Amino acid sequence: MNASATGDDKVAIVGTGLVGSGWAIVFARAGYKVALYDTAPGNADKSLAWIAERLRDLEAAGLIEAPDAIQARLSIAPSLSDALNDALYVQESVLERVEVKTTLMSEIDKVIGPRTLVGSSSSGLGASLYTEHVTCRERCLVAHPLNPPYLAPIVELVPAPWTTQETMQAVRALMLRVGQSPVEMTREIEGFILNRLQGVLLMEAWRLVEAGLATAQDVDKTISEGLGLRWAFMGPFETIDLNASGGVADYARRLGGLYHNIASATKEHRPWDETLIAKVEAQRRTVLPADQLAARAAWRDRRLMALAKHKRDMDLAEKECSNSNIK
Ligand SMILES: NC(=O)c1ccc[n+]([C@@H]2O[C@H](COP(=O)([O-])OP(=O)(O)OC[C@H]3O[C@@H](n4cnc5c(N)ncnc54)[C@H](O)[C@@H]3O)[C@@H](O)[C@H]2O)c1
Repeated sequence: MNASATGDDKVAIVGTGLVGSGWAIVFARAGYKVALYDTAPGNADKSLAWIAERLRDLEAAGLIEAPDAIQARLSIAPSLSDALNDALYVQESVLERVEVKTTLMSEIDKVIGPRTLVGSSSSGLGASLYTEHVTCRERCLVAHPLNPPYLAPIVELVPAPWTTQETMQAVRALMLRVGQSPVEMTREIEGFILNRLQGVLLMEAWRLVEAGLATAQDVDKTISEGLGLRWAFMGPFETIDLNASGGVADYARRLGGLYHNIASATKEHRPWDETLIAKVEAQRRTVLPADQLAARAAWRDRRLMALAKHKRDMDLAEKECSNSNIK
């Protein structure tokens, strides 16, 4: 899949937890050599073993061929300097804490090559919070994935004020080469696009349960049996464009008032307190006992693989169809 790299190109993954390991699959699958580096003893080894299992799952789902060849492109780097040596790109995937990322960026700055670019997996912290002090800051940005990145192609590219356009364009081109779907923000905002959208939905979901208006299960079902079905292949703007005979403007004029009323009535935002957390936790544990969380996550990944395959096959079929229409 996406085997467009030369084989000599190298990417470094710094922080080989859940997200770093997922990114390693993305780059190795596309033909890049991937150096894994993690400060916690044994973590990079665990990552390699975890990746081997995921590659078997991906092969079984028909999403990759030759998992052994992909695995052979991965290696553990004994130091940060070894990991970055000759790397064209670094995917930083350490903890979501400003002080951890700031210290790491100082270390990266000491060993980084003159052309290497650094993307951070940060879920919501702008790169300006931890790259201002480094000399390589023009080559740093946020490249935020959805988990797991090898199944969900979206990646949000977010520049710090000093990130150059060349950096944005080069990382965008790299992401396209490895089969991801980049979106670009013009400047930083906490939560970027993805978590700001998810945040609005989550705030309302918790509010409905807190007020006793619906159960957590029924809120979930409204997405899994309703809104989420469309969202697997189109976003909210396209959805409403197709939901009124006159398109998005017609929809906005017909239903704008409803959404304005909802938003006006929910101006107040409170943190999710312990009482509310206990309420949602109790409802979730009646449908999914805590000891089944991991099995359910594995089920989710199998369903995501089937969906990824369906989307890939449909995209290919549509492309072939439009090519033959052009001819
Ligand atoms: N978990 C998700 O769903 C998700 C999704 C998108 C983005 N992210 C972001 O990705 C980043 C990583 O998240 P995660 O869930 O993989 O965390 P994780 O805890 O699973 O992994 C973090 C890894 O970083 C290592 N580490 C810490 N300091 C290091 C250093 N200085 N050098 C090298 N390795 C170091 C740790 O040992 C650990 O293995 C965070 O910024 C997070 O917000 C997470």
